Amino acid sequence: MSITGQTTPPRNIPQHVAIIMDGNGRWAKKRGLPRLAGHKAGTENLRRIIKACADFGVKYLTIYAFSTENWGRPRDEVDGLMRIVEDVIERELIELNEQDVQLRHLGKLDQLSPNLQRKVLYAVEKTRNNKRLVLNIAFNYGGRDEIVHAFRQMLLDGVKEDEVTPEMVSRYLYTAGTPDPDLIIRTSGELRISNFLIWQAAYSEWYVTPTYWPDFGREELRKALDEYANRDRRYGKVAASEYEETHV
Ligand code: IPE
Ligand code: IPE
Ligand code: MG
Repeated sequence: MSITGQTTPPRNIPQHVAIIMDGNGRWAKKRGLPRLAGHKAGTENLRRIIKACADFGVKYLTIYAFSTENWGRPRDEVDGLMRIVEDVIERELIELNEQDVQLRHLGKLDQLSPNLQRKVLYAVEKTRNNKRLVLNIAFNYGGRDEIVHAFRQMLLDGVKEDEVTPEMVSRYLYTAGTPDPDLIIRTSGELRISNFLIWQAAYSEWYVTPTYWPDFGREELRKALDEYANRDRRYGKVAASEYEETHV
């Protein structure tokens, strides 16, 4: 914070931030509330983080909202999560358009209820010309499912063996057109990938915080971005400064 009370804009902003929004259940439990109350609080927080990302100049935000493994949760929780996402899409569509946010969906739509499928497609269509921020919602998403889907599609399209390159695989993923994430944030302290963007995360930087997702606000995001700005991304090479030292 400067003396004028203005925060300085973060530098070296990641183009693409991906978030594993974890810890809703534990957030609720800590307060003696049902798990669904945690999921509701989580969606309130999502609104804050979308706005903060747009303000900070992030161009792509990918959020993990429901994994292919989350179907294994109790029926009530799964139904509740479906209802919450339906309500959120309906309620937030105007706000997304006002914020110039383009919504995209990552994952399989066909296992969702026809009503939810319609709402997702409608929101994607209504926001497709927005330019400030691309918001990818990974819902019924799994990294292994995505890769299997990509290879099946390549076979159906008659892609030849020597045409199968990393670039070609990327083009067949749900994230086609989105650059790989620069920074992946996981809230609630778990140190695992949980089937999220397993191909795209090859060289992403990680930031893990013990904070539960509903409490991960603008300031915490700012901390993650500041830490990212100081990372040395070497991509398997030697840092330029080291190289100069060994070649003088
Ligand atoms: C993340 O919070 C949201 C979803 C997976 C849908 P959790 O529901 O996993 O919360 P914890 O990990 O049980 O605290
Ligand atoms: C990952 O969180 C999935 C989402 C955040 C949507 P989980 O809570 O499902 O992951 P695990 O079970 O801790 O690996
Ligand atoms: Mg969890």
